[in-house]
Formats: sequence, structure tokens, C-alpha cells
Amino acid sequence: MALLNICVYPDPVLREKARPIGMVDAAVRRLIDDMAETMYDAPGIGLAANQVGKPLRVIVIDLQREEDPHGLIVLVNPEIVQASGELVWEEGCLSVPEFFAEVHRHEKVTVRGLNADGKPVEIQADGLLAVALQHEIDHLNGRLFIDHLNPIKRDIFKRKWKKRLLEASV
Ligand code: NI
Repeated sequence: MALLNICVYPDPVLREKARPIGMVDAAVRRLIDDMAETMYDAPGIGLAANQVGKPLRVIVIDLQREEDPHGLIVLVNPEIVQASGELVWEEGCLSVPEFFAEVHRHEKVTVRGLNADGKPVEIQADGLLAVALQHEIDHLNGRLFIDHLNPIKRDIFKRKWKKRLLEASV
């Protein structure tokens, strides 16, 4: 296993639409292992393959909460097949470090995909897990949580980010 470099906004790979995986082979399983290790090391609760520079439809999630029975969730070619309700959650992203903002999401989602063994799985989720699934699947479509912000909040983000880039270049 190896730690992968996490791409940071505005890296163009974050805007790419990720390609579906044809077969979960050894190379895909290695990518999954490396993504999980990178997520735990960061630490974060979710990571999409775009974020490590590979526009492929693979996500890993681990809420890292003792009460959560799922542990590590791996999804290849995930699709939201059902969504309902609405909630607001304060989100962050390993590709947009040190910025957090409230985002409107569906409260409940049903997601289908393949697991690390290439077997079909279905996950019914609500609350934080539903948010994490929507956030990571957004990544696979080149979408970031900041894209969900209203114009005023997006402006705040842009100003903060500009300041951050200026500070980094000093
Ligand atoms: Ni993210």
C-alpha cells in the first residue's frame, strides 16, 4: 500500500468526469487500498479517485465513528438510485482544505455499485453517510461541495481562497 498525493482545488482533475470501471481487477484493488490508506492518513471520512489524480469511478468512505456499523465502504461505479428529503450539513473536503460550509443535500439516498470484490451492493443511508455518499459521487462527476453554495457564500469562498494562495506564495 502507498500514500497518494491529494489534488487540491483548482487542480483540473477535480473537474473531470470519472470513467466507469470495466472490471475490478488487481490494479483497481490496489487503487482502493491506496485510497483507503490515504484517507485514513489525511485524516478524512471520504475520498474519490479524482482526488488522487485518477478520474475513475471509485470512492471510499469511513465515517470513523465507533457507532457506525459500516466501517470502510468501498464503491466502484456508484449510482444514486433513490433520494428523498432534505438536510443541511457543514461540509469540508480534503481537496479544499480549511474551508467549511453548509450544503443542502438529500436526507436519504440509496446507492448501488460494486464492492472491492466486484460484487453488486446496495447501501441505504441517511444523515452523515447520505451526505458523504452524495459528496463523493459528486466528485466523480467533477463537482465540488463549493459548487452548491449560493452566490454570496461562493464569493466568500473565492476571497478566502485568493488570500490563502497569496499567503502560500509569500
Ligand atoms: Ni471531497
